[in-house]
Amino acid sequence: MKILGDVLKLAAQYLKERNDSNPRRHAEDLLSYVLKEPRLNLYLQFDRPLQEDELSTYRALLKRKATGEPVEYICGELAFFGCSLLVTPDVLIPRPETEVLLEKAADQIKDLSLAGKYAWDICCGSGCIGLGLKKRFPELSVTLSDLSEQAILVAKENCKRNQLDVEFLCGDLLSVFQGRKADFVFCNPPYISKKEFDSLDRSVKDFEPALALLGSESGLLFYERLSSELPGHLQSGARVFLEIGTGQGEAVLDIFNAGHWKAKKVEKDWAGHDRFFFLEFE
Ligand SMILES: C[S@@+](CC[C@H](N)C(=O)[O-])C[C@H]1O[C@@H](n2cnc3c(N)ncnc32)[C@H](O)[C@@H]1O
Repeated sequence: MKILGDVLKLAAQYLKERNDSNPRRHAEDLLSYVLKEPRLNLYLQFDRPLQEDELSTYRALLKRKATGEPVEYICGELAFFGCSLLVTPDVLIPRPETEVLLEKAADQIKDLSLAGKYAWDICCGSGCIGLGLKKRFPELSVTLSDLSEQAILVAKENCKRNQLDVEFLCGDLLSVFQGRKADFVFCNPPYISKKEFDSLDRSVKDFEPALALLGSESGLLFYERLSSELPGHLQSGARVFLEIGTGQGEAVLDIFNAGHWKAKKVEKDWAGHDRFFFLEFE
């Protein structure tokens, strides 16, 4: 009979030998998924004997992980800003930085009167931003959009899972909002440059959708488009919350250089990298 502590050690070793980026953590995540136990509880059960069916399920998942497949796709779900989200290879895996974007935005809008106000999550992917926002601020009218029909299907499923009521649109950036204006716009667009894309970890490059990552040769195309297309879609005093790539702070400040922005600010993530760009419309 194999015991949990030994199995975990062997699993981490197996992943390490296959160049996994974080072998021990991934071995623990997958075992906690198989045993339906919180990861930290594993530390209280190192002597627990594992059943043959648990071991064979675990082995199959470890084999998938060894190919570089992200844990989130293997497990198929994650918790994000109060929501439980399904994630499939049709959508980007929501990142902790994006939760920080929402926390910062929530802090800025929590004292405003939100009833009857319109918030858009453009490039919604799994729906993490728009659904998280609706969950925290139910009085907002929230619309989510994406170019990918498959991503919209996942976001709709996530809407149902979390019993939320939002609108979905499918199409290119702001083209689906013709004749409409928003009070709050959120967007985490594809912002990886061609050069960065080529050097991404295989767990990202080989598994996450390229449409969600590549933002043109320079990585800045979506910010250029938003800077020219957004003003016609904003109510007076509207706030815009964008996620940006490491090192793109100066470039986006430059791109949004027109006079109709009352305020604009680049903020950093925990690692000290440019990550967020906040704007206020005149
Ligand atoms: C970086 S992902 C962000 C997903 C999600 N908002 C998040 O934060 O996890 C970018 C998303 O933009 C979508 N996208 C790419 N090109 C687009 C376009 N021209 N118009 C609208 N959405 C687009 C992709 O399908 C992808 O879902």
